[in-house]
Amino acid sequence: MNKFDVTTIPTELIEQIRNAEHLVVLTGAGVSAESGIPTFRDAMTGLWENYRAEELASAGGFRKSPPLVWGWYEWRRNMVLQAKPNPAHEALAKLATKVPRFTLVTQNVDNLHERAGSIDVLHLHGSLHSPRCFACARPYVFDSTIPPEINEEKSIEPPRCSHCGGKIRPGVVWFGELLPEKIFQQAEGAAGKCDVMLVIGTSGLVFPAANIPSIAIHNKAITVQINPTSTDFDSSVTYNLIGKAGEILPAMMELL
Ligand code: OAD
Repeated sequence: MNKFDVTTIPTELIEQIRNAEHLVVLTGAGVSAESGIPTFRDAMTGLWENYRAEELASAGGFRKSPPLVWGWYEWRRNMVLQAKPNPAHEALAKLATKVPRFTLVTQNVDNLHERAGSIDVLHLHGSLHSPRCFACARPYVFDSTIPPEINEEKSIEPPRCSHCGGKIRPGVVWFGELLPEKIFQQAEGAAGKCDVMLVIGTSGLVFPAANIPSIAIHNKAITVQINPTSTDFDSSVTYNLIGKAGEILPAMMELL
């Protein structure tokens, strides 16, 4: 059986990571859970358990009610800015220094990996911190001295583009939108070349991001899932480390 927990991390796996030529890590919302950032599908606490994704995370929803969507993302951005990277983010930033080549791919739109010290993070689903004009796509830069405007209903008029006057939208990939092509190609390429991949804190339900682990598995890489619950990856990964990323990753770093 390929199931282990934080107290039984196999030494063989530690050796394989120590000797890895190219280590790729794919993270999902679970890696930020211990920073207090809600995941999407965890029972009761997940965002999609409490909000309607199609109404909030779609271009149609933004067209219908820009203040509702902008306000909801500003509420999430504020939560991220109030949060801190957790030991999982910190362990991954350290892990990058232990191997010759390291690629961090995330589905997350927070900046906690970067704030823990990770660099060149591939954001498959964009970022809360890189909004752009809905009309002309020009980037909009937040004034970092001004905290996000928050109000209870979370309905806030989005700012306007200084170039064309269009409404500013969150810089995240919405349902029905394509992933940033170059970033996705980089992630696919890394998954096809790596010798070890860690898949951390993702339900693996959203494609095409959820194809990334399958590319590594097809490429015969050693694959490791870190998650407290079961996913469709359970039977195809080399190792299942059952538990929280903020506990398992620091324990792995201790053993490395
Ligand atoms: P989900 O909420 O779908 O899944 C979170 C996963 O993290 C689950 O498998 C949990 O068991 C696991 N988890 C929870 N706490 C954890 C912890 N402390 N340590 C490790 N794992 C933990 O989030 P994602 O898989 O990231 O799409 O969702 C993928 C995409 O669906 C998101 O990027 C977003 C969403 O709609 C876009 O924004 C386009």
